[in-house]
Order: sequence, then C-alpha cells, then structure tokens
Amino acid sequence: MDGRDLVRSVKAIGSTGAAQRLRTVRAAWRRRRTDASGLPPRGAERARVPGPVLSVEPGPGGGVVRFTRSDLRITVTAGGAVFWGWDGARPEPSYALAGPSPEPDPRAVLEPDKNGAWRVVAERMTVVVSRHGAVEVRTPGGVTLRKDLPPRWWEPVGGGEARWMQRSEVAADARFFGLGGRASGPRLRDGTYRLWNTDPGHSVGPGDDPLYITMPVQMVVADAATHLVFHDSTWDGRVTLREGEEGAGSGHDRAGTSDLRMDGGPLRCWVMVGAPARVLHTWASLTGAAALPPAWALGHHHARWGFGSEEEVRRIVGGYHERGLPLEAVHLDIDHFDAHQVFTVDRDRFPKLPVLAEELRRDGIRLVSIVDPAVKAEPGNAVYDSGTAEDAFVRDSAGRPVCGVLWPGESVYPDFTRARTRRWWGGLYEERLSQGFAGFWHDMNEPVSFTAFGEATLPRSARHDLEGRGGDHREAHNVYALCMARAGYEGLRELTPQERPFLFSRSGWAGMQRYGGTWSGDVTTGWPGLRASLSLVMGLGLCGVPYSGPDVGGFDGSPSPELYLRWFQLGAYLPLFRTHASLRAGRREPWEFGDDVLRHARVALVERRRLLPYFMTLAHLSRRTGAPYVRPVWWGAPEDRALRDCEDAFLLGDCLLVAPVLDPGTDRRAVQLPRGRWYDTVTEEVYEGPARVLIDAPLSRIPVLARAGAVLPVRGEDGGLELEVWAPARGRTGGGLVVADSGDGWEEPEIERYMTLRTGKRVVVQRDGEEGPEEPSRPVRVRGLGAL
Ligand code: GLC
Repeated sequence: MDGRDLVRSVKAIGSTGAAQRLRTVRAAWRRRRTDASGLPPRGAERARVPGPVLSVEPGPGGGVVRFTRSDLRITVTAGGAVFWGWDGARPEPSYALAGPSPEPDPRAVLEPDKNGAWRVVAERMTVVVSRHGAVEVRTPGGVTLRKDLPPRWWEPVGGGEARWMQRSEVAADARFFGLGGRASGPRLRDGTYRLWNTDPGHSVGPGDDPLYITMPVQMVVADAATHLVFHDSTWDGRVTLREGEEGAGSGHDRAGTSDLRMDGGPLRCWVMVGAPARVLHTWASLTGAAALPPAWALGHHHARWGFGSEEEVRRIVGGYHERGLPLEAVHLDIDHFDAHQVFTVDRDRFPKLPVLAEELRRDGIRLVSIVDPAVKAEPGNAVYDSGTAEDAFVRDSAGRPVCGVLWPGESVYPDFTRARTRRWWGGLYEERLSQGFAGFWHDMNEPVSFTAFGEATLPRSARHDLEGRGGDHREAHNVYALCMARAGYEGLRELTPQERPFLFSRSGWAGMQRYGGTWSGDVTTGWPGLRASLSLVMGLGLCGVPYSGPDVGGFDGSPSPELYLRWFQLGAYLPLFRTHASLRAGRREPWEFGDDVLRHARVALVERRRLLPYFMTLAHLSRRTGAPYVRPVWWGAPEDRALRDCEDAFLLGDCLLVAPVLDPGTDRRAVQLPRGRWYDTVTEEVYEGPARVLIDAPLSRIPVLARAGAVLPVRGEDGGLELEVWAPARGRTGGGLVVADSGDGWEEPEIERYMTLRTGKRVVVQRDGEEGPEEPSRPVRVRGLGAL
C-alpha cells in the first residue's frame, strides 16, 4: 500500500469507522479478482505504421488517403474545423459531439502536393498528408502549426484493442494549455499528464495529477496562430509535453512536442485554428453550447460537509442576514442523507426540509443537494430496489453486479452509458425537487469506490452498455460523469420544464458544459491550493467548460484569516462563488476570521451582487460564443509573449482584468496589462498597456481594472440594471454588450449593443437601435472622467 492509498483508506475509516475499512479491503480483493478473470491477458503485440501511400479517394471536404496498412479519412467542415481519422475512423459515435458532425466544406478538395504528398486547402488552414502519413496543419500563409508524425499502433496478436501513439510537433514558441482540469497550470509545463479521471483521495494542490476531469483537448498558443486539438478517444492515456526552444535567430529552433499514448479507442482528431475566441467558438459549435445557469447560481453559495441539522442551516443563514451579507444558495452535503444514501433525507436532523427550503426561497436563497452515483446495495433501499428492477447497475463480465464501496458502505453503480438507466436516474430527481432543492451537485463520479489498495474506481473489466455498442470500464470510465450529468440534466428538463437546470459535477469530459458546470474538487487549504484554484478554472474554460470555481478557503484544515480573505476576493470574480469545506475542517463563515476580514469580505460580496448583471451577460455570451467568463490575459493578443506567460491574472469578460493576490504578505503586486488604457476600479487611477505595472493590493481588495470604453451592466441601488461606463481615452471609442435576463426560464433575451465615444470632456453612450444609434433607456454612470 503506498502513502496515497493509506490516506485514502484513512479517509474512509475516518468517516464511517472500522467496518468501512474492512469493506475497502474486501472490495480491493474483489476488484483484483474481477479483473484477473474479466480482462483479456496482454500477450504478444505487433507494431504497425501506416506505410507508404497507395491511392486517394476524394470525397466531400477532403477524402480518404489509402496507405499500405491504414486509411486516413480527412474532412474539413463548413464550421472551419478539420477532422481526420485513421483506420477509416469517422467522427461518430462520439460522447463529445453535441449532435451529428458538421457538414463537409464543399470547397475543400484533396489535391496532389509536392513529393507524393496530398493536401486539402481550406479557408482557415491547409492540411498536408505526407507519403508516409505525417499530417501537417498550416496557416493559409503556409506556416506549420502542428505536424503529426505517422502514428504507430500495437495490436494484440490474438486480436483486441490496439494501443497507439501519436507524436506531434508544434512551433518552438508554442505554449500548451488545457487537458481538462490541471492544478499545475494554466500553462502546462514539460511533463506527463494522464488522461484518466481520478479522485486522488486527499486534498489537492499543484503537484497532484491527474484529477477529476481529464480531457484529450489541448489549446496550443503560438505566434503564428492558436489551435485546439481534440483526440476523440475516451480510453486511458498519457500526454507527454515538451515546450520547444528558440535558437535566438540562429535558425536552429527545437520544435515543441506532444506525445499522446492511448490504451485504445479510435485514432481520430479534430483541429481548429484561429484566434482563441474563434477556436473556442468552433469548439462549442462542435461539442455544444454551455448550459445557462439560473441567475441565483451566479450569486454567493455557502456549503459545508457537516451542517448537522436544520437548526444549523438556519443559524448560518441568520449569520449572513444579521451582518447584511448577500447569500443566494446553501448546499447540503451527504450528511443530510439518511445513512449517506443518495435520494434520502435524515428525518431526525432534517424533519421539515421542504419547509426550510420554502422559508429560504422567500429570502431569495436556494437549496442545492449533493448527488452521489453510488447506491447502497441493500434491499429495502428504494433506489436500489427500483434500479435492480430496471437492471440499471453495472455488472462484471460474468454478469454479476459490481459491488464497490462509497459513503453508505457496499454500493452498486448505475450504468449511465445506457439510455434507459439515464431515464430512470433522471426521474429520481423528483424526490429532490419535492424536498425543495433547486440545484444539484454531482460528486464522487469519477466514479469512486473506496479501496484499501489499487485504484479507487470500478474494475476495468466492468461491463457498460456504451449506447448499445457494449464495452468495458476502460472505455466508459472517463465518460461516466458526463453521462451522469446528462441523466440529471435531461431528467430535470422533464420534471421542471419551465426552469433552467442548475447542475455542476466534479468529474466530466469533453462536452460536459452542455449539462452544467464543475468545481475544483477538494482543493487543499494553503497558498498553493489558492493558485491551483485559478489554474483549474482557467484551464477548464479553455476546454469549453466556462462555469466553475473553487472551495473558497480550501477544502481541508483552517486557512489563516489572510488566506481566507484572499481566496474570498478571488472567488468573488469566478463564475461559481462557493465557500465549502470538509467535515473536519475549520469554520468558513466570513465572520469567523475577525472584524477586518468580515468587513473586506462584505465588500467582495456586495461587489459580486452588484456585478450580477455582468455575470449573467457573460453566461449568455458564453453559451452563444463559447468564450469562457474567465479568460487568460492573452485572450485578445496571443502573440504577446509576456501575456502568454502570465498565469496570475485573468480577464473577466471583455471589460475587467482581475489580479488576485496569490501570495501572503502582499500589499502591492505586478500586473501584466494588455494593450490599451485600464482604470483601477476603486481608485480610478489610469494605467496604459501593454506594460507591467505595480498596483496596490491592500488587504481590503485585490486589483480589478476596467478597460477604457467598457460598458459594464451592474445592479443599481434600486435593484434595476444600470450601465457603468469607463471613459474611453481621448478620441477613442469603446462599447459593450448587455444581456438583461429575467433570471430563469427559456425566454431569449435580446442582446443590447452599446457604443461609447469620448469627445473632449464628454463621453457619449449610444445604443445600437434598429433605426440607428439611440439614447440608452437605462441609467448611465460614467467613470474615469478625471483622467486625461
Ligand atoms: C468529496 C467532495 C466534497 C464533499 C465530500 C463529502 O470529497 O469533493 O466536496 O464535501 O466528498 O460529500
């Protein structure tokens, strides 16, 4: 047993005692036995490469290039992405794609290139296939963005799933981002990153990898262009990244490399090229628009593992009210369940949950429920009984239900890769709705099964439906949570058709944004954990998952007042703003850290509430364009290398730049500014970018800068929507978009477009109307006019 296993099993014991410990030992042996008999033995393998090209067969958007030992299918789509698949692989079936794959671009044709190569010329890129099967993506100007060398397969001699490896070269100046939620980023440095969703079983910091959400999605940012590459295989894999080196004008650059080794699945990928905004737009049109959260989910949430009772929930909420602190949601963790069983309530400690929920709702506070996938395997447990009747649970290769261990003890796991199981599960949210819950927090869905040794998940040989195709956990593992999210989301759409479902999930995969968001999992309490929080949110945004946030204050232990406050101040500018902590952790209420912290936390909370219309606008834009709320500072200028290497600040939409404090003892910090004029939103001091500037960051606030010319929708004193306009520099213009949303439901609000112009001392604000510019009907407040 290694150190991690020990920690994990201690965690299991800590929560439910010695009996649980024994179960984890039994489960570990069981898993080992199941896999010993259920997995094909790894015998001799034969290596294969494509070999030389034989012929081509042009088709819509590209065609098929035949090699001696493989076929390569290439299709450039009308949306501007290119797909290619080896061994004839097609885009479907895919868990990532939101719908049928996009139409081929009829203008893109396969034609001969130099040296026996073939190429497809498209509007945004040229794809060149060499005689031996290297695939190069070039800009229209001819600069190589990536070169995938001929792949290599290893096939079991007796038949079975082939492993494969794909080496890619990228520009010497390129930086890597993405791969799902990584705590050590957002820039992914040299190293190996695993593609296997994992709960490490302890609180996580920058050194922990992999984590809960892994995705074979890379965003590669280089001088020549940005591109996103997605290898659509759900199997376990490893990516080894090595940044390139520039030869300082000597002409001897060393390319960056990415080696992808997968245990199985088709070798197929999608590449999209362009500015970051365009790339993510294309990615979102492929994998689906992000679910729109209801307005309340953009406010402040308070969670805790271990709210012992209804009285305690009332006490916490009362604490917020007495101190005039805004609060929009309270989350109930597993301790409100009856003996930790999902879709139940402990009636002793929560006797009148619907009444409590109703009271809270009257005060504008929603209740959110945790939902774990594991179902206690005990006849009499209604969920177990109905799931058994539905044949909903995962079985092993001999047809027996797979029994793992989670909080309630021995448990079985729904097979969410089966449509019927998803429908059954989706219906179970009715019980939650009748208890008064308005939102759902999916947890432990990597999926986790506690274990005394080995991997804390289901056996690899466990069988899954995989939409009728059939397969095992090696293929289903990484999409387990994605399919659970789909089950919850679709169930809620049916149960409450008038409302927008609010769901966020710890684990997931490419496309999870269709059903909701995520959070940073059990991020460790400490300054490294604070940094990891930002890395996770930014990295996930670049993989198309815009809504997330950390456990403010960290999951375990007790943050110092300073750390708590700095976390709180960062959290106030992230999409999911939630304080949460473990059963054994110290308090997290803003008033538990002294008067100074309370005063400054109140400022952060009040500002968040004021910015709600801006967050709502960002949520809409994110859904329509794929742009995350939280964007790296290089978003608009990826060619600016100083920005590309900046990891400690972010753009919140187009208008704001947030520079959180990530180190103790800070009262000033350096901020790398993109081009243009920026105002400190508190002092209105002016900074001109591009530049690296020092900005005051006293305990009372973190630096937040507004872009000159920005139009920021904010909530006025009377609760109505106002426009906060930041003066453009003299002779300059600006503008912004506003989406005024009623808070919930499916009505499509209009996008309001504003323009700002500065002439002398005056700032003119106009709305883009149907018949030309018009006066804004909303109150306007101009700021930053004091500056020259
Ligand atoms: C997991 C979750 C955490 C939750 C706990 C108990 O560790 O990540 O947020 O509080 O389980 O349900």
